[in-house]
Parts: sequence; C-alpha cells; structure tokens
Amino acid sequence: MTFLDFEEARAMARRRLPRGIFEYIDRGTEAETALARGRAALDDVTLVQRVLTGTPPDPTVSLFGRQLPLPLIMAPTAFAGLVRHRGDIGLAKAARAAGIPFSVATEAVVAVEDVAREAGGDLWFQLYMWEGRENWQRLLDRARDCGIDTLFFTVDTPVFPKKVFNIRNGFGLPMKFGWRNMADVATHPRWTADVLGRSLLQGGLPRFAHYPPAARRSVLGRGGVSLSHKPGLSWDDAKAVRDYWPGKLVLKGIMHPDDALCAQKTGADGIVVSSHGARNFDSTVAPITMLPAIRKAVGPDFPLLADSGVRTGADVLKLMLAGADVVLLGRAMLYALAADGERGAANMIAIIAEELAQAKAFSPVRLQ
Ligand SMILES: Cc1cc2nc3c(=O)[nH]c(=O)nc-3n(C[C@H](O)[C@H](O)[C@H](O)COP(=O)(O)O)c2cc1C
Repeated sequence: MTFLDFEEARAMARRRLPRGIFEYIDRGTEAETALARGRAALDDVTLVQRVLTGTPPDPTVSLFGRQLPLPLIMAPTAFAGLVRHRGDIGLAKAARAAGIPFSVATEAVVAVEDVAREAGGDLWFQLYMWEGRENWQRLLDRARDCGIDTLFFTVDTPVFPKKVFNIRNGFGLPMKFGWRNMADVATHPRWTADVLGRSLLQGGLPRFAHYPPAARRSVLGRGGVSLSHKPGLSWDDAKAVRDYWPGKLVLKGIMHPDDALCAQKTGADGIVVSSHGARNFDSTVAPITMLPAIRKAVGPDFPLLADSGVRTGADVLKLMLAGADVVLLGRAMLYALAADGERGAANMIAIIAEELAQAKAFSPVRLQ
C-alpha cells in the first residue's frame, strides 16, 4: 500500500528509517521554533476564491529558458544515498520522468557522474564552497563535464548549527556508532540490508562522493584529510563563483530584500528564498513572510525560487502567490524515497501536482 499524501509518506519513512536518519531529515535546530513558525506562516495565509474565470488552470512555468511542466524542482539534499541505496539516482529518475529538475548536492554520497549516467534528465548542481579555490573549482568542472548548466550556490550556512538530537543519535558529522545507534540500525533490518548491506557488498561504507580524492572520507569520518567549508563567505566569494561558472547561477538561501538586490548586482540569474527547511537559523523568519518584499525589490521578471516546509500543492500555490516562480521540495521527496524508492518519488510528484491543480482550480488570489 502506498501513501496518499505528505503525512502518510512521512509516517512510512519514520517506520523504515533508523531514528537517527529520520530525525536528521525531519527535525530543525536548537529549540525548533523556526520549523513551527514556518509551518504556521504557511497555514496562516488564506486565499480568496474567484469564480467564473473561464480559465482552466495551467501548471506549466518557464524558467531559465526551459518550459517546466510543473513549477517544482527537487531540492539538493545531502544523504539521499543514506535514505535508500543510491537514492539520488531514484530521485533523479523520478524527476526526469516528471520533466522537472533534480539537484545534486555537494555533500552527496552518490557522484554527479553516476547520477548523470544512470538517470540523466535536467540535472542541477549545488555548491557549498570549500576552503581552497582549486577544490571548489574542480568540483564545478566535474558538474559542468556532466552537462550541468544550472548551479545553486548555497549561501545560508555560515556554521553547522546546534542539533542536540543529531549528537545524541550519533548522527553528527562524522557519524559515531555506539550501542544506541547500533540498536537503532539493528531494529530497522530493511534499511540496514538496503543501505549498509548493499554498500558494503559494493566495496565499503558510503563515502562523500564529491570531495577531492585525498579528502574522500566515509560517512564515519574514516580515511582522508579534512576539508572544511570556507568560513566568512562574502559577496566576493559569490562574485568568484559567478566569474568561474559559465551557466545559470542561483544563490540559495536569501531572506533579505537587500541581499536579493546584491545577488542581482553580483550577476546571479535567480535566487532561492529559503530558510533551508528551518534547519539552520532557529530565529529565522519564514520565507513566505519575506517573499512579497523580495519580489518587490527585484522586480517582476527576476527568477525567484522558494522552499521550506512545503507539504501540499496548496503550499506551493501560496508561495507562488507570494512571489515565487518555482518551488523546491526537500523533505517531501526524501520521505517518498524512504517509503517507496523511485516509485515513491514519482508518487509524491503526482500527488503534489494534483493538489496544486485542485487548489488552482479555485482561481484563488491573495488579498493585502
Ligand atoms: C536532509 C536534508 C539535507 C539537506 N542538504 C542540503 C544540502 O546539502 N545543500 C543545500 O543547499 N540544502 C540542503 N538541504 C535544504 C534543502 O535544499 C531545502 O532548502 C529544504 O529541504 C526545503 O525545505 P523542506 O525540506 O521543508 O522542503 C537539505 C535538506 C534536508 C531535509
């Protein structure tokens, strides 16, 4: 039996995944107020139905010269490969079948080359800037050699935020195995056989696939020299990425209208208004609260993407009516992947597409 909505997929993911992995995906940070605030902000938006409009809803959007059949993109999420064996490939195949982009993450355990070869489709890449210009430039070369044209440069993670539950679950980085998470793994045999078993049969524990060879550690932190994210990122770093990357550049994690204007000035082709799924800064305002001001600042034609907390097609529509052109799905896709692999991912896209069509059929508008 498969799931019929986000909540059912989440419940299935909770049953299948070890607690450490489920909570790593599901939870926020510190006191988790941003998660609740983000959800409340979406729920608090009410829309006014218009009638007799005579226009059937059209889900298609155009973005960066592409015509997308749905206003959806699969967000970059590190560790999809720990949700299912080579999970990034299942997600990318489902994205391809639906005609929407899939984003490969810097911190993934499945290499961009493998995703390109085995799934293909409209692949985007996400960059966390490492120390050492050469290191991140070689990574962008790898993405470009796979034919990738569009880059998310994630700019909203100046530190790794405090997540007590991750540490308690042994799911900090590197992961630590103790009696507590040994029991967690042992009581989830389907996950253990799929993710750990298949990976060990194929030559070892999952490894960070995009690190330079000397720094390619396993997820337990074994082997390889350490390579950190560059501290103190500035607009000069955004400029450096702009100068190096020949394709479309999208800055991910912008929440202030002035930063949106700086992104435009730096030559970004678009931005993602995002609280990183309320996973980073627990005092953050919700993206939907900031979207109207950001849209006003950047003008009507600048591509605005948005995410964080989307569970339904109606949430997608609310973000769009607040100013977004396209919406990214993070947790929704990971739960679907956990629940039913590639088929689950396809099911989640179909569910959100149908909910979006239903919400749009009411021709709603946002007053204020
Ligand atoms: C498990 C997980 C891992 C993530 N890893 C990354 C990452 O590596 N890079 C990045 O830019 N964003 C990452 N994100 C954030 C997503 O790209 C996206 O902004 C967020 O998930 C949207 O919120 P939602 O999960 O509520 O849909 C991650 C999110 C989750 C849930």
